[in-house]
Amino acid sequence: MSNRTFTMIKPDAVANGHSGKILDHIIQAGFKVVAMKYTKLTKEQAGAFYAVHKERPFYGELVDFMTSGPIYAAILEKDNAVTDFRDLIGATNPQEAAEGTIRNLYAKSIDANAIHGSDSDENAAIEGNFFFSFFERF
Ligand code: RTP
Ligand code: MG
Repeated sequence: MSNRTFTMIKPDAVANGHSGKILDHIIQAGFKVVAMKYTKLTKEQAGAFYAVHKERPFYGELVDFMTSGPIYAAILEKDNAVTDFRDLIGATNPQEAAEGTIRNLYAKSIDANAIHGSDSDENAAIEGNFFFSFFERF
């Protein structure tokens, strides 16, 4: 079990001014931010990041949404990081997200769902490497 995960505060949450509250929520839950950047994905980058969903009907909307505005990308550290962070953000559909989770508090819809969290240790490493070079991490 790895102690790192990867997150993005998505365009809806950044545009709505929720980034600070979401980041504080993450830190108060015991995660340490070990790398962070503010950026805006191109269609090519978002398409590559979510390539696993390429055949799904929502892929086009997902890429459009993720390129609609700036995001924060970060690598987070904590024991049991991937599982604990998925618990912290809640279900993909905010209507199904448990009380007090980040998606329950800040997400509006299944597309505009405020935050991304890696779904496995393997993907956490791949996704972190997608955004951060060796020299940007420690
Ligand atoms: P994420 O990767 O962004 O953390 O979200 P997730 O694991 O909870 O959900 P995932 O299955 O990986 O889907 C990625 C994003 O695609 C959108 N989606 N739409 N309309 C739909 O049925 C549907 N399913 C997924 C969501 O915005 C989701 O965050
Ligand atoms: Mg996912």
